[in-house]
Amino acid sequence: MDLKNTLAFVAAAATWKAMSKSTSTTNGELTPQQQQNGHGEEKGIQCPVTGKTLNGSSSGCPVSNGFPKPDPGHRCETGDIEETKIPDVPPLTQKQREIIKSTAPILAEHGVTITTHFYKNMIRAHPELRDVFSESSQKLGHQPRALAAAVYAYACNIDDLTPLLPVVDRIAYKHTSLHIVAEQYGIVGKHLIQSIVDILGDAVTPEIGDAWFNGYWNLAKIFINREREFYTTAVENGGWEGWKQFKVTQKIKESDEITSFYLKPLESIDSGKSLPKYHPGQYIAVSLYIPSLGYKQARQYSLSDRSNGEYFRISVKREDGVAIPTKSNPVVPSHPGWMSNLLHEKLHEGSIIDVASPYGDFFYEPSLIEPNAPLVLISAGVGQTALLSILNSQLENKEKPINYITVARNKKVHAFGNYIRGKVLKENPNVSYKVFYSSPEEGSDLSGKDYDVKGRMNLNQIKDNLYLDDKSTEYYLCGPEKFMVDKLEELKSFGIDEKRIHIELFAAGELPQTA
Ligand SMILES: Cc1cc2nc3c(=O)[nH]c(=O)nc-3n(C[C@H](O)[C@H](O)[C@H](O)COP(=O)(O)OP(=O)(O)OC[C@H]3O[C@@H](n4cnc5c(N)ncnc54)[C@H](O)[C@@H]3O)c2cc1C
Ligand code: HEM
Repeated sequence: MDLKNTLAFVAAAATWKAMSKSTSTTNGELTPQQQQNGHGEEKGIQCPVTGKTLNGSSSGCPVSNGFPKPDPGHRCETGDIEETKIPDVPPLTQKQREIIKSTAPILAEHGVTITTHFYKNMIRAHPELRDVFSESSQKLGHQPRALAAAVYAYACNIDDLTPLLPVVDRIAYKHTSLHIVAEQYGIVGKHLIQSIVDILGDAVTPEIGDAWFNGYWNLAKIFINREREFYTTAVENGGWEGWKQFKVTQKIKESDEITSFYLKPLESIDSGKSLPKYHPGQYIAVSLYIPSLGYKQARQYSLSDRSNGEYFRISVKREDGVAIPTKSNPVVPSHPGWMSNLLHEKLHEGSIIDVASPYGDFFYEPSLIEPNAPLVLISAGVGQTALLSILNSQLENKEKPINYITVARNKKVHAFGNYIRGKVLKENPNVSYKVFYSSPEEGSDLSGKDYDVKGRMNLNQIKDNLYLDDKSTEYYLCGPEKFMVDKLEELKSFGIDEKRIHIELFAAGELPQTA
């Protein structure tokens, strides 16, 4: 994704976060005041969403429909929208755009409260969506924050959405990888608008309700159309829409923490049908039933080998989880990651898993730029996966200078070192390799053999390997948020144009925040 646009979005998200700190309710529950706000079955008042005159019945109400008990916010007599129908909304009027812009700060102040409340209610009404949303992202608040930030960014850019389009693509790719479909926008729309009404109460006048209703659907349609394009392209390229059963054909331990899985489609094992071509750097999603949760979960994994038509390879870090004790709660259990642990422990050669077609806007395609331009691949830990795919995809071009730079704690957790030193460097004199160990183990981890530099990655120490003089050099970064922010700053301090820096982050909605 273009960095400038990422950061524009992030700036909006940061403002959102800062503003949302002043929120009075933080757990998504209604305050007594909010519970009272317009929630009685009064007669002769208007629905805050549709503007219709109400008589206290909830039947057909677009905001209360589907709730297990009468919902505090409903006041409609009749509604014209069912949650699974996509309304035919007109483009926003200038007045509605003004309303959305002027109410964005109010929405921002309560954004995370609204979206947390929204998820809780939506999952209660649609338990099947547990298979779709990440349990951990909900628990940790990542997903509500990401949604709130997206809605706020939309409101701030309502007059000209062009700067947001790359962000829309990033989100739309994530959605398609998880097989989000148009009908689900009806469910999300209903519950999101309901939550705005629940939390903001009488502040949501019919005019404001109308503007946001139209605003939501205009945004939703941008996503729905873009996602439809992505599904169509995937199918045209030999992929599929939704999930397909794959078999694990090989499982290889790459380090104490990272294991690779080679995946082949069940159907091609017999038919020999080849897999779709993907761009190096793209990811697939996998979906698996998690017995201890009692429902499915899906996660994205970068493809860690070049596109080869025969298999997908993913390389997964086992997330043990960290226990962070507090004063009030000194004995906190760690929460191991659901999917990564299940994959490591229970997915063996011969196991079956659901897999989505490859998607993603982070990739390297030299035909789009100068084919022999130098390439610098900078990763930390499991961030290597996406960059290894890029590296492997370029090995046929012996004219292209490539520098592969990575950091790990020590040799035990350093994956792919043997492959790169033992094969890639021997066969490709155009490739160089720099390894940082932040905590090498005395005696077993050897400087000059296992690693080159002791300590955290500092690009100043290897400035000569960054092809800084060549203005066509492209830089690809993948790793944890803090690492990416630091490397981004270092690269910018060398005078590198942001357009030549490309970033991928392995987390929901948590984009690097330099703004
Ligand atoms: C585009 C993309 C590409 C990716 N590529 C890769 C890849 O190549 N390899 C790879 O290994 N990963 C990759 N990831 C990350 C991957 O999708 C998963 O997020 C990762 O495997 C963790 O999933 P999980 O289910 O094991 O952990 P989750 O259950 O999702 O938990 C996430 C983290 O939160 C912690 N946690 C969960 N619940 C709690 C709680 N209640 N309290 C405190 N902490 C908690 C967990 O310990 C864990 O560290 C990628 C992500 C994206 C978005
Ligand atoms: C206009 C409506 C929507 C907006 C603005 C929106 C916004 C977002 C954003 C910002 C992210 C984080 C992307 C990232 O990781 O970089 C996200 C992820 C996600 N969205 Fe949406 N979304 C919308 C509609 C939907 C719908 C209709 C569904 C399906 C019911 C859905 C399901 C998901 C899921 C499952 C994720 C991945 C995170 C997780 O697993 O919890 N979204 N969305």
